[in-house]
Amino acid sequence: TESSVKPRGALIVLEGLDRSGKSTQCAKLLSFLEGLGHPTELWRFPDRETSVGKMISAYLSNKSQLDDHTIHLLFSANRWEKRSLMEEKLKTGTTLIVDRYSYSGVAFSSAKGLDIDWCKAPEIGLLAPDSVLYLDISPERAAERGGYGDERYERVEFQKKVADFYQTLRDSSWKIINAGEAMEEVEKKIQEVVLDKVKECTKGKPLSLLWS
Ligand code: TMP
Ligand code: MG
Repeated sequence: TESSVKPRGALIVLEGLDRSGKSTQCAKLLSFLEGLGHPTELWRFPDRETSVGKMISAYLSNKSQLDDHTIHLLFSANRWEKRSLMEEKLKTGTTLIVDRYSYSGVAFSSAKGLDIDWCKAPEIGLLAPDSVLYLDISPERAAERGGYGDERYERVEFQKKVADFYQTLRDSSWKIINAGEAMEEVEKKIQEVVLDKVKECTKGKPLSLLWS
C-alpha cells in the first residue's frame, strides 16, 4: 500500500547497565545524525519530567518506597504516556534515539525476582525499536565509573543479575557494542549500525509492535 512505503524516522534504542556510557553515546549520536541533516530527537526512559516520572525519580533516589510490581507498572506507564507522541514523531520523519526502553523495564524488574512474562505483559503494544544497541560492560568496570552508587539499583551484585536478564532478552537483531573500548571506537560502531537503520526507515520499513 501507499502508506507502507512512506519514509519515516527510525526508533533507535540504547540499552545497558548503569554507567555503561549510554547517555554519553546518545548525545554523540544525536549530534552525528543532526549533522547529516536527519531530523532527530533524544528521548530517555524514565522520562522524569511527567507526573509518573516524578514518582519514579523519587523511588530511584530512595525518597519513596514502592512495591516491586507497582514501580514496574509505573515505568511501563511512563512509556505508554509517550507512545502516541512517539508514533507521531516517527511517522512525520523524526528519528528517535531512546536511552533505555522496555528491555530495561523487564531486565531490572526480573532481576528483583518478578516473573519475566509478567514483566513483559504491560509492554505489549508499545512500538518495537528498529534497532537495539546494547552497550556491553562488566558490572565491575561500570562500578569504577564516576557517580556510581547514587541511585537505588547501582550495586554490583544486582547489576550482575540485570546483565543476565538482558542476555535472556536479547535476540540476533541486537547489536552488542563493547562499551569498554575507547569512547571514539564505540561512537563509530554505533554510527554505522544506526545509519543503516535510518536508511531502511527512509525507504518505508513498516513499524512493528512489542513484544516480538
Ligand atoms: P537512568 O539512570 O537511565 O535514568 O535509569 C534509572 C534506573 O531505572 C536505572 O537503574 C534503570 C532503571 N529502570 C528500570 O528499572 N525500569 C525501566 O523501565 C527503566 C526505563 C529504567
Ligand atoms: Mg542511572
